[in-house]
Formats: sequence, structure tokens, C-alpha cells
Amino acid sequence: MKKIVVLVSGGGTNLQALIDAEKSGLIKNGKITCVISSKEGVYALERARNNGIKTRTVVRREYSDVVSYSQAILDALTEEQADLVIYAGFMTILDELVVRAFPNKMMNVHPALIPSFCGKGYYGLKVHEEALKKGVKVTGATVHFVTEVCDGGPIILQKAVEVQENDTPETLQKRVMEQAEWKILPQAAALFCDDKLEVRNGRVYIKN
Ligand code: GAR
Repeated sequence: MKKIVVLVSGGGTNLQALIDAEKSGLIKNGKITCVISSKEGVYALERARNNGIKTRTVVRREYSDVVSYSQAILDALTEEQADLVIYAGFMTILDELVVRAFPNKMMNVHPALIPSFCGKGYYGLKVHEEALKKGVKVTGATVHFVTEVCDGGPIILQKAVEVQENDTPETLQKRVMEQAEWKILPQAAALFCDDKLEVRNGRVYIKN
């Protein structure tokens, strides 16, 4: 059984999708053993507690720089003996010292079809604001492995979602979550836990 540690910073709807997937048996070879938040008091922590999952808070603003914060996160992940680390709305960029310790063992959900609307500065509602500004007709979500390049790691799963003419960033965000993120993040976690993901030359292959 693989130990899954989920990193959060906010409401935790993607965390909820993972919890539900574990309960329903979609994720059968993995268990969420700890949720780590970069902020105190976020609803994601309550979701974890409501489901009997251990929580830890490593507050970003208590550390003076990215490297010392990253080391604290790495220490927590090592203590938790994480086999898979999932960024589920985790809004803090970590130093590559964390990525190096978990090569192809960290995944992130991003609310757009990478390589569109991604990279530094593209997070949360901002992604949907930019998609609407550009006037794209289709957007979606991506789950990818985390590398030292922000939103640049090997793509595991993507799902497209149509943009509607009267969309606001909020309505688009909600549809992308419901139709894409909450589906492909648990699917990707399940594939990882079933040892079905193989990374070759920067591409992900899904084994039968
Ligand atoms: C989600 O839409 C997630 O894709 C996005 O933040 C939201 C978190 O919601 N993540 C990023 O933008 C990362 N670049 P949640 O806390 O309800 O899961």
C-alpha cells in the first residue's frame, strides 16, 4: 500500500476528490496518510480531520526564504515516508531540493491545458481570467509530474472543458474542477499506486 501525502493551501476540493476515490475503491493500492498545509485554518485541513487523516501545517511565512521552507517540507515528507506526494491546490513553489528527493513521485493538478496558461504567476482564478481574456473556446485541466520547471513536468492526464460565452472566472473554475480536475487527479493517483505510470524521455506512458 503506497503512502500518499497531499499538499494543500486552500479549500481542498481536490483533496476531497482524492478522499472520495480512496473510499470508493478507485484508489485501491494507496492510502492518504497525511495532509500538509502551507496555511493555518484552511478548509482542506478540516476535510482531512473529518476523515481521520493526520494533518501538519508548515506555514510559508514563518520561513525567511524558499530554501529553508522547502527543507522543512522535505523533512515532513521524509518523516511521513511518502511514496507519492500530491500538490492539490498547493500554492507555494518549492526549491528543487524537494523534487530531487522525489523524482517522478510528486504530481500536481493545474487548472488549464498545459502548455497554455501555466508557469510562474498562473494559479487559481488567475488561470481562468487569462483563459477568458484570450478567448479560448476550450480549456481544461492537467495532472503532471513535478520537476524543477514550474508546470513543466511530464504530463500524466489531461481533460478538456468547453468555455461558454457568459463564463466568469468563477463559473469557469467551477466547471473545470467538476468536469476535469476532480476526475483526472484521482485517476492519476490510482494509476501511480497501481504502478502503471512509466516516464521515458520526458513523456508518460500508461501501462495496460
Ligand atoms: C484548483 O483549481 C487547482 O487546480 C489550482 O488551485 C485550485 C485549488 O482548489 N491549482 C493551481 O492553480 C496550481 N498552479 P482546491 O483547494 O479546492 O483543490
